[in-house]
Amino acid sequence: MESSTSSSCRCRVISSDRAGVVGRIAAAIWLAGSGTMVAADAMAAAQAPVAAQAVLHADQTGPTIAPEIYGQFSEHLGRGIYEGIWVGEDSAIANTRGFRNDVIAALRHIHVPVVRWPGGCFADEYHWRQGIGARTERPVRVNTNWGGVEENNAFGTQEYFDFLGLIGARSYVTMNLGTGTPQELADWVEYITSPSRSTLAQERRKNGHDAPWKLDYVGLGNESWGCGGNMRPEYYADMLRHYSTFVRPPAGQTANRVAVGPNADDYHWTEVLMANAAGSYDALALHYYTLPGGDWLHKGSAREFTEGDWIRTLAATLRMDELLTKHEAIMDHYDPARRVALDVDEWGLWHDVEPGSNPGFLYQQNTLRDALAAALNLNIFHRHAARVRMANIAQMVNVLQAMVLTQGDKLVLTPTYHVYDMYQAFQGATLLPLELDAPPYLHDGHSIPSVDASAARDAAGVIHLAIVNLDPGHAATLTVKIAGAQPHGVSGRVLTAPAMNAFNSFTAPTAVQPVAFGGAAVHSGVLIVSLPAKSVVVLDLN
Ligand code: AHR
Repeated sequence: MESSTSSSCRCRVISSDRAGVVGRIAAAIWLAGSGTMVAADAMAAAQAPVAAQAVLHADQTGPTIAPEIYGQFSEHLGRGIYEGIWVGEDSAIANTRGFRNDVIAALRHIHVPVVRWPGGCFADEYHWRQGIGARTERPVRVNTNWGGVEENNAFGTQEYFDFLGLIGARSYVTMNLGTGTPQELADWVEYITSPSRSTLAQERRKNGHDAPWKLDYVGLGNESWGCGGNMRPEYYADMLRHYSTFVRPPAGQTANRVAVGPNADDYHWTEVLMANAAGSYDALALHYYTLPGGDWLHKGSAREFTEGDWIRTLAATLRMDELLTKHEAIMDHYDPARRVALDVDEWGLWHDVEPGSNPGFLYQQNTLRDALAAALNLNIFHRHAARVRMANIAQMVNVLQAMVLTQGDKLVLTPTYHVYDMYQAFQGATLLPLELDAPPYLHDGHSIPSVDASAARDAAGVIHLAIVNLDPGHAATLTVKIAGAQPHGVSGRVLTAPAMNAFNSFTAPTAVQPVAFGGAAVHSGVLIVSLPAKSVVVLDLN
């Protein structure tokens, strides 16, 4: 039931309203041939809203949307950590113990639930002992994955946990299975978590932290099918069984063990891991990036794109639903009780780097298109909440589809950040089944639903509805019949902009930001929402 907003109920061919629009355009064109066309008619026809319908089952209940679905990923990559989070205590940029105050405030505001660290590919070459103790004595290494730059290890274990405390997030530490030993892993777990007077726990105290930290999630390698060691799934399954044995937090503590999951549609990987090692982990983590240009060699510009690129990007984003559905089907076979989660600990839009920036730093701008893609993914994760219990967008600051971008002492909140802000009420809410019937948005040989939506009820009983209008050229009217509840009021916010590629720059940081939404009304259990073209709307129903 929780996955009931299936793609099948969103694929109905042109509804009568949309057919009417098409018919009016055709009539206008025909009249043009006869020399009597009124251009305004054609314009009005082209801009007429599409009509979508939904039934929201407020009388039913689905799974809890884990707050960790709103998780983040932060790797030693480019300016993600250094400059983006950590500037050092002596920096002229306002900071708390070396962490940027502006970034901390922005992240606190959206209640980041968990941060995955230190990688990514970086994790499988990271040796934790190099990042503890006096900063001046930490070794300088070369970041071989990301630009070959010097890594001075100024941000290590104590800085990571200090930073989590400042933003109020839980920990997710990825262990080194590529070049690290089981002993290193076991020692790091003990150093972080032990309340004892062991030599490692005393070393942590000597380094300034008396109380143990909490290790909430432990990643067992990263992309072991690729940068983490180019392993076959059979080999990685054995590695996993071996290394996970030594994840031993103290009595009374548990650490959720996250295994390297499949690369996009590698269903064989999931099959082998579920068949051979499912007892050794608590979650499998899928990686799937949306490549707007279609492949790794042609990712495409973040800011310069056509409507064809727009629809291709959103269609590729919607593929997340198919991937989750198929991996879940394999997992259901081995684990019908759904003990093991299917997390998505790397996802997002991966564009070409900003012109002029270091290609190894993966710095990209972030437009309204990124915001819609983020909202679509979050809606998909909600619908799969019975199995998807954590997701970590890549990456939190200055890298890929970031929440915030920094330049010197300046900071901008990206359109993606605003989606995370608008969706906050979904963290920990209970999914409500929603049947949605939206006409397709057609362009350039692609067909995707024009409207996507997701609903949930929070602990206070308030119903939240998130709606995306994917069509950049048409407003939409969504009529929602609410079964089992009679809300008397509705309020919310909308995120949109005049152009598909609108973005927030350091000179115009508020070009794309949410504003109060006045386009919804509820009466006698029926909600009617007038959605602007290319928009994200989040509503509260009281
Ligand atoms: O997020 C950037 C990189 O993408 C990560 O380091 C790696 O895991 C993935 O390939």
